[in-house]
Amino acid sequence: MFASLKALPADPILGLIAKYREDTNPKKIDLGVGVYKNEAGDTTVLSCVKKAERYRTDTETSKVYIGPTGSALFNEEMSKLIFGHHKVLLENRTRTFSTPGGTGALRVAAEFIHSCKAGATIWVSNPTWANHNAVFEAAGLTIKTYPYYDYENKTLDFDGMLAQLKKVSSDDAVLLHACCHNPSGMDLTNEQWQQVAEVAKGVGFTPLVDMAYQGFDSGLDEDAYGLRLLAENVKEMIVCTSCSKNFGLYRERIGACTLIAETSNSADLVASVLAYVIRGIYSMPPAHGAALVETILSSSELTTEWHSELKEMRDRINGNRQLLVDKLKENGITRDFSFITRQSGMFSFLGITPAQVQQLQDKYSIYMVDSSRISIAGIANRNVDYLAQSIAKVL
Ligand code: LMR
Repeated sequence: MFASLKALPADPILGLIAKYREDTNPKKIDLGVGVYKNEAGDTTVLSCVKKAERYRTDTETSKVYIGPTGSALFNEEMSKLIFGHHKVLLENRTRTFSTPGGTGALRVAAEFIHSCKAGATIWVSNPTWANHNAVFEAAGLTIKTYPYYDYENKTLDFDGMLAQLKKVSSDDAVLLHACCHNPSGMDLTNEQWQQVAEVAKGVGFTPLVDMAYQGFDSGLDEDAYGLRLLAENVKEMIVCTSCSKNFGLYRERIGACTLIAETSNSADLVASVLAYVIRGIYSMPPAHGAALVETILSSSELTTEWHSELKEMRDRINGNRQLLVDKLKENGITRDFSFITRQSGMFSFLGITPAQVQQLQDKYSIYMVDSSRISIAGIANRNVDYLAQSIAKVL
C-alpha cells in the first residue's frame, strides 16, 4: 500500500524550524515561524501560565473524558474574551467549543461548512496563511481568492477586495483575518471593517473569522473590533481563535471554534452538528491548555498579569518594526521600507525576491519564508545591525 507514495516536501513554514536548528552559525537569525521571541531570542513560558500550571497540578482531581465541546468554563471565558459584552452573547446565539489549537478550530469549522453544503466555496485573501488552503482543501471545500495585498504599493487592495466580496454568492463562506494579517501584516481600518460588514450583510455570505493573534496589534478589545462589528451585522458567522500566541501555549494546542446562529434555538441545532463533526475527527479536545487559560481568565489577579505580559510582547513587536526600518536606512538602503511600520502583528513581507531570500539563508544564516515573510519577533537589538547589513548586501 505504501509503495506508491512519493515523499512530500517539508511544510514551507515548519520546515524552517529544523533548518535553523541545524545551522551552526552563531550569527543565525530566525525570522521564520510565527512564534514570539524575547530580546534574548527565547520563547519562554508566561509567568501567569506557570502559576496556573502549579495551581492545576495541586487541584486537579480527575483526568476523565470531558466530551467533544471541551471545558464549559474555558468556552465561557473564551467567548467573553472574543466578544466582550456583545449582543450575540446576551441573545445566547453563540456556542463555543475548545479545539486543538487554532488550526483544529479551522478544520472543524471547514468540516462544519462542508456539512452545511458539500464542497462549499470559501473565499480567502490573496495571500493568506499557507495552511488555510491545506486545511480547507482537506475538508473538501472549494477555495477561491479575493484580492487583498497590493505587493507593488505594499498596501491593501481594498477596492479590489470589496469589489470581489460584492460578487460572492450568499451560500459561500469568506475567510477574514481579525487582526495581524498573516502573512502580510496589512489590516483593515475600522472604517474599512464597516464597509466589509455592510457588504456581508447585503450579500449574505457567512464570514469565517480567524483570530490567531488577539492582543498582538493594539489590544484585546481593539483587535476584535472588526469581528464584533461583523457579528452585529450578520445572522450567522464562525470564529476561530487560538491561544498559541497570546498565551504562549503553542505546543499545548488550544484554541476555540465559535458558531453564531440566528437564534438561540438554531444555535443548539448547529452545536449538535459541530459536536458530531468533532467526534468524527478527534473525539474530544485536549484539556491541559484549556485548564490553564480558564484558570487565568477566571482569576482577576492572573488576568492582570496576563494583560501586562501580553502588552510586553505587543510593545516589543511594534518597537521592532521601527527599529528595523531605522537600521535599514542607517545601512544606506534607499529603498523605502517604511510600510513595515504601517503594518501590524507578527509579520510583514520584506518584498525581496525568492533568490534574495535564499541568499540570506545560504550566505548569512537568516531564515524567512520564501515569500519574504518575516516574523518581526525574531528581530532583536543584538541582531538587527547584522540583519540590516545582510539585507543591504543582497539588495
Ligand atoms: C506561522 O504562520 O508561522 C504560524 O501560524 C505557525 C504555523 O503553524 O504556521
